[in-house]
Amino acid sequence: MIHPPAAEEIITLSKQAYGLSGLVERLPGENLNFRLDANDGKCYVLKFAGDELPAEVIELEHRMIENLISAGIDISLPRILPNQQGEIETKFRTGVGDVLRARLLSFVRGSPWCEADTPDAGLLRDLGRVLAEIDLVLAGLDHPAAHRTHRWDLASAGVHREKIALIDDPVHRRLVESMFHLYAACALPRLAGLPHSLIHSDANDENVMVDNGKVIGLLDFADSLYNPTICELAVALAYVMLDVPEPLKDGAEIVAGYQAVRPLSQEELEVLFPLICGRLCTTIAVAAERRTIDPEHPNWFVTEARAWALLKRLAEIDPVVGTTWLAGRGHLEPGLGAGAHLNALLKRRNERIGPSLSIAYDEPLTIVRGQGQYLFDIGGRPFLDLVNNVCHVGHCHPRVVMAGQRQMALLNTNTRYLHGLLIEYADRLCATLPNGLDTCFFVNSGSEANELALRLAETYTGRGDWLIIDGAYHGNTTLLVQLSPYKFMGPGGSGHPEPWVHIVPMPDGYRGIYRGQDQAAGEAYGDEVGRVICESCAPIAGFLAESLLGCGGQIIPPQGYLARAFGHVRAAGGLCVVDEVQVGFGRAGTHFWAFEQQNVVPDIVVMGKPIGNGHPMAAVVTRREIAEAFANGMEYFSTFGGNPVSCATGLAVLDVIEEEGLQARALELGQRFLLGLRGLMNEHALIGDVRGTGLFIGIELVRDRESLEPAAAEAAELVERMKARGMLLSTDGPLHNVIKIKPPMVLNEADVDMVLRSLEDELGQMARSEPF
Ligand SMILES: Cc1ncc(COP(=O)(O)O)c(C=O)c1O
Repeated sequence: MIHPPAAEEIITLSKQAYGLSGLVERLPGENLNFRLDANDGKCYVLKFAGDELPAEVIELEHRMIENLISAGIDISLPRILPNQQGEIETKFRTGVGDVLRARLLSFVRGSPWCEADTPDAGLLRDLGRVLAEIDLVLAGLDHPAAHRTHRWDLASAGVHREKIALIDDPVHRRLVESMFHLYAACALPRLAGLPHSLIHSDANDENVMVDNGKVIGLLDFADSLYNPTICELAVALAYVMLDVPEPLKDGAEIVAGYQAVRPLSQEELEVLFPLICGRLCTTIAVAAERRTIDPEHPNWFVTEARAWALLKRLAEIDPVVGTTWLAGRGHLEPGLGAGAHLNALLKRRNERIGPSLSIAYDEPLTIVRGQGQYLFDIGGRPFLDLVNNVCHVGHCHPRVVMAGQRQMALLNTNTRYLHGLLIEYADRLCATLPNGLDTCFFVNSGSEANELALRLAETYTGRGDWLIIDGAYHGNTTLLVQLSPYKFMGPGGSGHPEPWVHIVPMPDGYRGIYRGQDQAAGEAYGDEVGRVICESCAPIAGFLAESLLGCGGQIIPPQGYLARAFGHVRAAGGLCVVDEVQVGFGRAGTHFWAFEQQNVVPDIVVMGKPIGNGHPMAAVVTRREIAEAFANGMEYFSTFGGNPVSCATGLAVLDVIEEEGLQARALELGQRFLLGLRGLMNEHALIGDVRGTGLFIGIELVRDRESLEPAAAEAAELVERMKARGMLLSTDGPLHNVIKIKPPMVLNEADVDMVLRSLEDELGQMARSEPF
């Protein structure tokens, strides 16, 4: 920390370095700025900095200001005036031993925006115009020192999110968390694609100087940097919109003034509202951090309360509406309000769609767009998708979309013609599997793939009985419903298995029959499969098992389970079929296929959901001899299975998983999640168990850790609370008390941390019975 120089030191310096004498007075604000009323009749500013300010940054500021002046910008700027040696800075040592670097600046007259009269439309537009003119000039300039980041870099505001935990009030934490989320989901992913340039980046209400209804000056180039150009406008708006009765209306005037000089693209307009929120959140988060350092600091908290007030107002506004207003179309009321729209859609859906299909969440969501790990509702509000394992490489991944679109425009037909893509895709899939799994069938859904797997095994073995894990779900066809305890034992089900279905216990290390037996549990559960085979005396065609149990409650079978179970099945003449529909393609983190964790090689692998990133496709891969036995004269044909569009899509998915390193990412993020969740488990007795591998995680809620009484209502409430915060989770398991996490694999660390902070808050509020 440097100490302000004494007045006499400043006077001596002015004389020696600049040949000026006069009166000095410290200017308000955080910076070491002094006004010098010199005896040449002019007024100057002497600006001091410590050694931490690199010379290149001072040079950058100088170059920017000189460029703006020579381009004829019609406002005054703090021009750096060289010392008598012609240098732009003067180094000197103060009496207390600090080395300071002084700059003499021309004085910019006028009143700061925050002290001027309430701005009218003319002044607001003038600010927009000035900023646009500055941006146009600066777009032609670059400087190595500008390629940096700093505390107020709006394109990196996400770094401040971890400071949310420093805010005391949970209601306030929730607000700022959700607005940071808005920034992260709606602005961040789009910034890289927007025009970038050198910007001033700090047109706040103390730096914009006003006189007689016009902007006449702009101060303080210390935060300038190379950034998305739109951040210039966003920073200014975040300040001008403080404390005014109609912030979006005022904002729209500034945007209009800006656009008259530098028209904005639709993409730039759409990030403006979330960027403004991001800036306000930064102010709040930085204040929270600074409060831990010096709660009495005279300058650090001047904007904080005003930022809270504006953020609260903006939180009430749908981002789509905010954008509409800022773009100057606020008078166009968007027809039906969101609530009325939802009710109308719901009514029509109930009339037209089969009622056996439920809708997620107490208050349904109308989702209209997806990008990466986020879904957006009709108002533009973002939701972090923590449950959709189908959009594996991220919603609407551009590479996958492009591959499908391109092939769709070229050819889409059935597989009775030769086509290179079919072979290429089959080769690529087989290359991910152990040797021997070398023959592919392509279909359209997980259910269809499981049905085919049953037929393959039954034809090969000449038998028709199946072993199935309790609680499992494998598909929606008649046969698969009969084979899925999740369905036939559930509401509307027969309540008992068909004679050809034999249920083996769920290999659940938490509440199953061998709970707590760690090492031995895998083999013990595996031997249960042998026991059921013996007791049934049935002609077993096969054992159909998920490698990790999804609907069963995010269960990770103990090590040794599949090896032992497969041994019993094979000894009885059956085939081993793994259903990787939920968990394949790298989700488990350690391996590409989850069955690989158990050191087994199945006879048939069933794939679905993530395989096409949302494009409806699925596959079955088996050994040649099994496929040959199936070719018994009856042709197997699927009209759509393996069509060129599906193959192109599937190939793009494999490319993205590989090139973006998504399996490794799943492992890393999964560990981050598990660590955080286990920390929460130590604090909250409601969490009975946390389990998972990669991005396949379960949180089991119980009312009592001894009796394991399931906390299904609490799980449902927690899911609703998280949804209200913009995070989508769901419950599963036979007792409906397991919260499942299986997001698109493009999640990032900041998302994980937000989920953990939010769960902590909501669990705390639930413990105190506070509403949400
Ligand atoms: C493990 C498992 N297998 C199969 C299926 C059926 O897949 P689909 O819905 O694509 O027919 C599902 C669907 O949820 C599943 O979770």
